[in-house]
Amino acid sequence: MSAKKRATFGGRLSAVLVAAGSAVGLGNIWRFPYLAGENGGGAFFAIYLLAVMIVGVPLMISEFSLGTATHRNAVGAFRQLNKRWVFIGYMGVLASVLILSFYLVVAGWTAEYMFHSVFSDQVQNPDPASHVAAFENFITNPWKPVLYALGFGLVTHLIITMGVQKGIERASKVMMPMLFVALLVLAIHSILMPGGMEGLKFFLAPDFSKVTAKTILAAVGQAFFSLSIGLGTMITYASYFKQGTSVRGTTLQVTLLDTTVALLAGLMIFPAVFSAGIEPDSGPSLVFITLPSIFSTLPMSAFWSTIFFLLLVLAALTSTISMHESVTAYLEEEWKLSRRAAAWAVTLFTGVLGIVASLSMGIWSGYTLFGFNIFDLLDYVTANILLPLGALLTCLFVGWKFDQKVFRQQLYPDCNVGKEYRVLRFLIRYLCPLSLIILFIYNLGWA
Ligand code: TRP
Repeated sequence: MSAKKRATFGGRLSAVLVAAGSAVGLGNIWRFPYLAGENGGGAFFAIYLLAVMIVGVPLMISEFSLGTATHRNAVGAFRQLNKRWVFIGYMGVLASVLILSFYLVVAGWTAEYMFHSVFSDQVQNPDPASHVAAFENFITNPWKPVLYALGFGLVTHLIITMGVQKGIERASKVMMPMLFVALLVLAIHSILMPGGMEGLKFFLAPDFSKVTAKTILAAVGQAFFSLSIGLGTMITYASYFKQGTSVRGTTLQVTLLDTTVALLAGLMIFPAVFSAGIEPDSGPSLVFITLPSIFSTLPMSAFWSTIFFLLLVLAALTSTISMHESVTAYLEEEWKLSRRAAAWAVTLFTGVLGIVASLSMGIWSGYTLFGFNIFDLLDYVTANILLPLGALLTCLFVGWKFDQKVFRQQLYPDCNVGKEYRVLRFLIRYLCPLSLIILFIYNLGWA
């Protein structure tokens, strides 16, 4: 398919917005705080930042340049460049479907919290224990969270079938600045709560004494998850970039935005966690029990809670759209399905798996594998195994197989190649793959 026939985003600003829309989501505001809380706070954050800089940035540049060079979906991009490596694309598609399935469940929770902020006065309850109970009560309900997840999938589906440009661009433009301001205000409020300083210390002062290989893997996996890299989503998105969109500039801005949102989320959550006496290692429920505790201390709590969860819903939506789009584009272009049929296939499959993931938090929580329920298993396997593996293979491909002339052209269209390129190339060829391999080996317990 020629580049001209495909949809393109409007221009430089839009490329940043849609890519940031994909990156900024529940990964930053739900997953990041819950993992930081489980893994000792400051040390996790420090390793996370390091991972973003050392592997995240080179990998995002790699994925973008594969997309701008080929103008294809993740599978098509590898197929066009080197057939033997096409399995990386398939792995990405598989991982996208798995992530989207449990992501829809959490996205559904945010939608439920948004509606409940309006219709219930639970959010005004000053007792943190009541928020824990309310959350438990909700996610173990056999049908409510399931319906919310399915509803979220359907809304994603609608936007996807409306077309790339209109749907995605519009959504991203409004949401980001508002979310940013809301997080900033809530972070300041949270830090000023009694006992908030203790939370700040937990989140920002690293204590490396408890760091294990598992902590590092969790931080690295979270870096990929948050930046939407490792499974080809950014290849697909970059394939829609307008000619002349800067790969390096977009990467830098998206990474900066994404990391700032994670930082703000941490600053918002941890002071409140300590202030309300919530356990920082509460896992996936952490944000959902902490946020109401923050809102209950605000005047007009229902109002703020509604607005904030609405923003979260939108942030989640721009991320579900990106995962859905990357699989839909694959089915559409490689299987020659109509866009409608392709989108339905993705929506139905992730819907069914989403139901399973949702029920595994409640009535099916007894079904476990390696001690994980299905939801946790999907979360763990994708972020800690599939994403780092996809990242490793993508680095190896771009470092060793991808035509360097083409790669350079994507990065420096004006041919102004300098020291930066040599650093980047060293990272992609050696440092990133080696550190990922070592990390894997340590986690398997071989060393
Ligand atoms: N980055 C998104 C978030 O932080 C989630 C996401 C969207 C994603 N697309 C992805 C994660 C592709 C991994 C790969 O919420």
